[in-house]
Amino acid sequence: MTQKMIDQAKAVMRKNDRGLYTVPTQGLYPFQWNWDSALSALGFAHFDEPRAWTEIETLFAHQWEDGMLPHIIFHQPDDGYFPGPDVWATGRAVPTTGITQPPVAGFAVRRIFDRARDKALAVEKARALLPQIHAWHQWFFANRDPQGTGLVAIIHPWESGRDNSVDWDAAFERVPTEGVEPFTRRDTSHANPEHRPTDEQYKRYIWLVQKFRSLGWDNSKLHDASPFQIVDPGFNAILMRSCADLADLAESLGETQIADQSRAMADKGIAAMETLWSDAHGQYLCFDRSIGALVDSPSIGGILAAFAPIPQARARAISERIKVLAESCTYLVPSHDPTAPEFDALRYWRGPIWLIVNYMISDGLEFAGQTAVADRINRDCLRLIEQGGFAEYYGPIGAEPCGGDTFTWTAAMVIEILSTQKVPA
Ligand code: GLC
Repeated sequence: MTQKMIDQAKAVMRKNDRGLYTVPTQGLYPFQWNWDSALSALGFAHFDEPRAWTEIETLFAHQWEDGMLPHIIFHQPDDGYFPGPDVWATGRAVPTTGITQPPVAGFAVRRIFDRARDKALAVEKARALLPQIHAWHQWFFANRDPQGTGLVAIIHPWESGRDNSVDWDAAFERVPTEGVEPFTRRDTSHANPEHRPTDEQYKRYIWLVQKFRSLGWDNSKLHDASPFQIVDPGFNAILMRSCADLADLAESLGETQIADQSRAMADKGIAAMETLWSDAHGQYLCFDRSIGALVDSPSIGGILAAFAPIPQARARAISERIKVLAESCTYLVPSHDPTAPEFDALRYWRGPIWLIVNYMISDGLEFAGQTAVADRINRDCLRLIEQGGFAEYYGPIGAEPCGGDTFTWTAAMVIEILSTQKVPA
């Protein structure tokens, strides 16, 4: 069973392999996505280490001069996706978008390095990637934390990777729709429109893109100019975990300056995450920087925070919180609290389960000693695959496979879980 599942997952990854990078899935997402690639490299590393390194190298070959790593790289033209390069108009030789995505590459590179069978190759690749990843981390603090709080803001929901989370609803009300150029969505012809973000949300996504474009994609201006500035605990946890992992990696490669700077960023950020904790919800919450208030939305962002080396007491509380969530759904971990009125079981990030998020939560909880909940999450991942194949995401009550099928990072997570974790049958 296990080997069969791994073989099926490998076939999915090979199908989406374009040589130097993978697409998340054919049709719906025909380019290279930032955090998809970093997480997918973990899967490749189990059966083709050089290919794993290539995935991340290709990503960083398109890093901007200021340090930003873009969220999509449009390697080949494909008019099946909107918004394409002409809408972003970032003026790059190989077009990219002008926003970023969760910085999970630092974590991925360290993990692939630690497990590498070909150590010489790993040292060579990690040494070259180290300053690039570090520059990206520094870019975040310079451009997305202008007040030096230790935490960074996202300025577009797509940066979070959780496109239409309930977390953004209130802040999104302040994003106008006037002046949005007419457009035709393409996502709704590849996936069920009932499960996708709404047209209203799409107008606001595009309004922000047009706004940033009008500022020439100058990152020194975008944060302050954006009406949408959210400090997402999940996003920040990924950044802090990657900074901490990069510190360890840099240390083992003798790069003490990068190690010290990375450690300092991680420590400051983790301390600052305390300001996002909610006793009432037993989890972290988003902070809306433009109005200076926490967002009262119990989504998975505040649970994903367990991926960072947070205090033990917080990890324990998050474990308890997940047990409460388990009472209102069949599979863990729903992207929004099933008892909240906004919960929508099959609509993208407003309820469904995403395996990559599950993986990061369970990894953090395991490290914190919360192994029972971590094991339950991993077991649920495999149950979902058994029922629904390698889908983009799944319903937390009925295990419905949703979104695109034969999805790269879902397959990568299955290989990772089956190859590395002790998953009780
Ligand atoms: C969607 C997801 C995002 C992902 C992308 C490609 O936009 O919300 O997290 O990176 O698809 O899979």
